[in-house]
Amino acid sequence: MLKTHNCGELRVEHAGQQVVLAGWVNRQRDQGGVIFIDLRDRWGITQVVANAADAPEAHAVASDARSEYVLQVRGTVRVRPEGTANPDLPTGQIEVVAQEIKLLNASKTPPFYINKDEKIDEARRMQYRYLDLRRPSMQQNIVLRHRMVKFIRDYLDAHGFVEIETPILFKTTPEGARDFLVPSRLQPGKFYALPQSPQQLKQLLMVAGYERYFQIARCFRDEDLRGERQPEFTQLDLEMSFVEREDVMQMIEGLVTALAETVVPEKPLKWKPFPRLTYTEAMEKYGSDKPDLRYGLEAVDISDIAGKSGFAVFTANVADGKPVKAMRVPGAANVSGTQLRKDTADLEALVRSVGAKGLAWMALPVNENEEVKGPVGKYFTVDQKLQLVERLGAQGGDLILFLSDKREVVYDAVDILRRTLADKYNLADPNVLAFIWIIDFPLFLWDAENQRWDPSQHMFTLPMPEDIPLLDSDPGKARGTQYDLVCNGYEAGGGSIRIHDRALQEKIFPLIGQTMEHAKEQFGHMLEAFEYGTPPHGGLAIGVDRLAMLFAGVPNIREVIAFPKTQTGSDLMAHAPSPAEPGQLEELGIAVVVEDKEEAVEKSS
Ligand code: AMO
Ligand code: AMP
Repeated sequence: MLKTHNCGELRVEHAGQQVVLAGWVNRQRDQGGVIFIDLRDRWGITQVVANAADAPEAHAVASDARSEYVLQVRGTVRVRPEGTANPDLPTGQIEVVAQEIKLLNASKTPPFYINKDEKIDEARRMQYRYLDLRRPSMQQNIVLRHRMVKFIRDYLDAHGFVEIETPILFKTTPEGARDFLVPSRLQPGKFYALPQSPQQLKQLLMVAGYERYFQIARCFRDEDLRGERQPEFTQLDLEMSFVEREDVMQMIEGLVTALAETVVPEKPLKWKPFPRLTYTEAMEKYGSDKPDLRYGLEAVDISDIAGKSGFAVFTANVADGKPVKAMRVPGAANVSGTQLRKDTADLEALVRSVGAKGLAWMALPVNENEEVKGPVGKYFTVDQKLQLVERLGAQGGDLILFLSDKREVVYDAVDILRRTLADKYNLADPNVLAFIWIIDFPLFLWDAENQRWDPSQHMFTLPMPEDIPLLDSDPGKARGTQYDLVCNGYEAGGGSIRIHDRALQEKIFPLIGQTMEHAKEQFGHMLEAFEYGTPPHGGLAIGVDRLAMLFAGVPNIREVIAFPKTQTGSDLMAHAPSPAEPGQLEELGIAVVVEDKEEAVEKSS
């Protein structure tokens, strides 16, 4: 090794020892006869002192050293002189007095500061990702991710799981996104599909008798990218045989609890065990199937009270079967009249942006002798107002918001209100992890455009056994055995018990608009496997990137992926995707008929 110790390791007890350190120049301060260098590596920073009188050659190298130069330092550890210790550094009690400094490599001036955590243009960060990754905050994220995956492997191994790799070059394994295709050279005109998840393969491993499988699996989905979505991402993929829904949920909850408590002990879990909400409860209360429950802001049904009020919009809607919901925003009315009008106007504009027709409100006075403010107070009797206050548990100074519309519109409005209000009033504690389970999802969602049912998870999900007869009579009412793991407003994972019976699986295909012929072509191997003693089985996959994002407390998954893609699916460092060589295309029997969009735009302008 070119070093005897790392830069985070030396302490007072090492004083007097000869050591060799190697790393990057974090900072150089030239004080004439003495030069101080903060030498950095993955483990920390150690101060090196080069003295012109004692070690003129080392001093000369130190004098030329610039930020990010790579140095090797041979020297003696010494306790820093009285009053010069740095309490912010773990190594701050000592310094290394250099006898010899070797320049291992120089560095151009980096395009951004490595040694300061300041906002950097993301395109620059992506172009120079290797420098971005050198920044201590990024190194922490990447190491955290490593510790998570290591813990997961050890935990699952201890629980009898076997890690098995499945192919990347495969056939469509649909999870609702577009496939990435890879052309075959050996069989021109044919394509592999990259797996959207190892779903089929892990089910086949259950047929094969492995009983407990897991994989840290790369998945590929060609879909519109967002902060919590990448075209390739990593799942902790897991499957178990001879289990019911409860067994898988218990296993995952045990794993996630132990994982969080071990790798991010500074982030408390809001609940143990994780609360469970049905899909319907989640939608009715929070307008979302992945609600952030670090805060309340629950929508409460007040249709019965509002239906008897004098406000025509509400009474007409209630008569029409549309709900009226109210949300209490604690303390939000405790502002000036002007501010209150502005705040409520902003919120009304917000809900209108998702299709709501208005946002009625009441501001409860802090002082009991004052009147309730707001456009609809006058339509409610004193008694009705008291009923509202009681149902919502509201207090003086609270703002009560009212929404009434078609259920789907109310859901969207509640969801966006909750997110916006939590931001505005800082209601979401960034240090808390609020894991919950969502269960009892509808098996299908209606796809109006294509006039067919879409699996709300995927086509292999077992319906709730008591709902199987509904497949014939009323598929929209059938619930699936699906469970989603949600944390702080993100879907962290999802899974289900699977169909393991050919006849039942065959029943699903026509409902989701697949002809039997097409289904056999795509999934014939699954149907066939179901005829060779398939055990009852189920599993789940957790988005490792999303979980790492939540654990690291960063705003998107690009911060926890070493080499992510941009919103347009590009790698700005290596310039992928890029055109193929003509020879490659010829070998594959492929002709490109669509021009590169950017080039086409350039040409036309
Ligand atoms: P699902 O499609 O819900 O289930 O995916 C599981 C989890 O993977 C994460 N995830 C993503 N993360 C980053 N970028 C993406 N584009 C992306 N898409 C999904 C989410 C999600 O909860 N085979 C099933 C699992 C099963 O049934 O066992 C599946 O893939 O955190
Ligand atoms: P108006 O009587 O139309 O002036 O409406 C009075 C208040 O009710 C305004 O604050 C509107 O935003 C609100 N409002 C109108 N329609 C709805 C609705 N469907 N749901 C909730 N509030 C509404």
